[in-house]
Amino acid sequence: MPALPDGLPMPGDGALPAWVGTARPGGTERSDPHGHASHATPAPGDGGDPRGVVPAAGGAQDAPRGRRRFGVYVHVPFCSVRCGYCDFNTYTAAELGGGASQVAYADTALREVGLAGKVLADVGLPERSVSTVFFGGGTPTMLPAGDLARILDGIRGAWGLEPGAEVTTEANPDSVTPSSLERLASAGFTRVSFGMQSAVPHVLATLERTHDPARIPDVVRWARDAGLRVSLDLIYGTPGESLADWRTSLETVIATGVDHVSAYALVVEPGTKMAAQVRRGQLTLPDEDDQAAKYELADELLTAAGLGWYEVSNWARTADDACRHNLAYWRGNDWWGIGPGAHSYVAAAATPAPAVATSATSDGGGPGGGVVPAAGPPDDDGEARAGVRWWNVKHPRRYAAALEAGGSPGAGRELLTPDEAYLERVMLGVRLAEGLELAVLRPAGRHAVAGLVARGLLDGPAALGAGERPARAVLTLRGRLLADAVVRELTA
Ligand SMILES: C[S@@+](CC[C@H](N)C(=O)[O-])C[C@H]1O[C@@H](n2cnc3c(N)ncnc32)[C@H](O)[C@@H]1O
Ligand code: SF4
Repeated sequence: MPALPDGLPMPGDGALPAWVGTARPGGTERSDPHGHASHATPAPGDGGDPRGVVPAAGGAQDAPRGRRRFGVYVHVPFCSVRCGYCDFNTYTAAELGGGASQVAYADTALREVGLAGKVLADVGLPERSVSTVFFGGGTPTMLPAGDLARILDGIRGAWGLEPGAEVTTEANPDSVTPSSLERLASAGFTRVSFGMQSAVPHVLATLERTHDPARIPDVVRWARDAGLRVSLDLIYGTPGESLADWRTSLETVIATGVDHVSAYALVVEPGTKMAAQVRRGQLTLPDEDDQAAKYELADELLTAAGLGWYEVSNWARTADDACRHNLAYWRGNDWWGIGPGAHSYVAAAATPAPAVATSATSDGGGPGGGVVPAAGPPDDDGEARAGVRWWNVKHPRRYAAALEAGGSPGAGRELLTPDEAYLERVMLGVRLAEGLELAVLRPAGRHAVAGLVARGLLDGPAALGAGERPARAVLTLRGRLLADAVVRELTA
């Protein structure tokens, strides 16, 4: 498992720096419960828009200026077995050791919910209800549905859920039943994301997945019958996976009729069993051309089946099917991460959002010709801050011990400067089909746009803007394959 970042020490009570709560104009209102409603822009092929599914209210402007959406992530760090490629902060029963129990986990997590409510209120941030909740892992569905429901109730009690709030859980296909899914739906869950990875037995075996691929259509049907939206996760580029294998996986996903698909290129994480197998020559990784061909095939087949891309690795049938929780991360909204190793981020109240276009227009009319993220108040060293990110201790035993002692499980934190927030905003925003308003970019980034359009990496018409649609940096298909290089040029 990767180490936590180095950072500044976290105060024992988890208090946030006072400048985080410095009032913003109009910042005392609750979030608009209806403001998150989204709609599909013209779907691929029905109107010439080069982009896929584009949720409304783009970028950090997701929340009206001066108000910022708030999401809660709940990490559940348990798995029945560890897949050979996975380095997430998760533990099998054997790895867990004494002093941390799966049975007590819901109560421990609820203690952190209580702490979070107090910390946010103490710093003076405006009261906000929760727009999205995401239970991730690990395998959240290793816990009984009743435990997940209790944690969700605690979140509802602490902040309230917006009407229509999105509540997702990740699940392994072999960790759900029709009744557990019904129980989740009746508790307020709206969405489930299954880790399918592949439909091909030898690929699943290389990944050391335990589920029977024949179960996928069943779990999708059970979840839908329970009234849940369903997403399937796929991994491409597993050693030994042919292009035909990948096509089989995509066709199997499409045949289920799901409305959301995530497809991730396999990353061989250092320290995993798979990394050792590659090092010893037992597994051979595909080359970049193979990965690119698989990405292109995914986009072609998913698009033809009516699922448009809305983020480089994510496709949805309509904008309503997009994962609003992940969109909130990518747009730079606030969230609290509950659980061992979970990260949280809160922007300074005086910062509308990292790098939101404020006074500038698409032709760069801001002072100095560009939009720089509005700075929050200065920290002790006098430097302006855009927000604070912190992370919890990784081991469930230490996590539980900190909360039981009445303190914060925070292990460290970093205070983001406006420059750092700007880099993140560009890095995440450009990966979205809605793109990044050129007004958000600093002059050097805006100057790079023409060259990126000429090389076919950014969409030309989107970069020009039209009518009420501001000029935006939107990746082409080729640009999606080279997204990191595009970001480097836009932030040079
Ligand atoms: C951490 S898992 C949690 C969900 C659930 N435990 C499961 O695996 O089905 C979330 C997703 O992350 C993706 N993932 C995990 N490790 C990965 C890796 N090394 N490379 C690419 N994707 C990975 C998988 O697609 C997986 O479905
Ligand atoms: S089941 Fe999911 S979280 Fe658990 S080890 Fe496998 S990929 Fe990682």
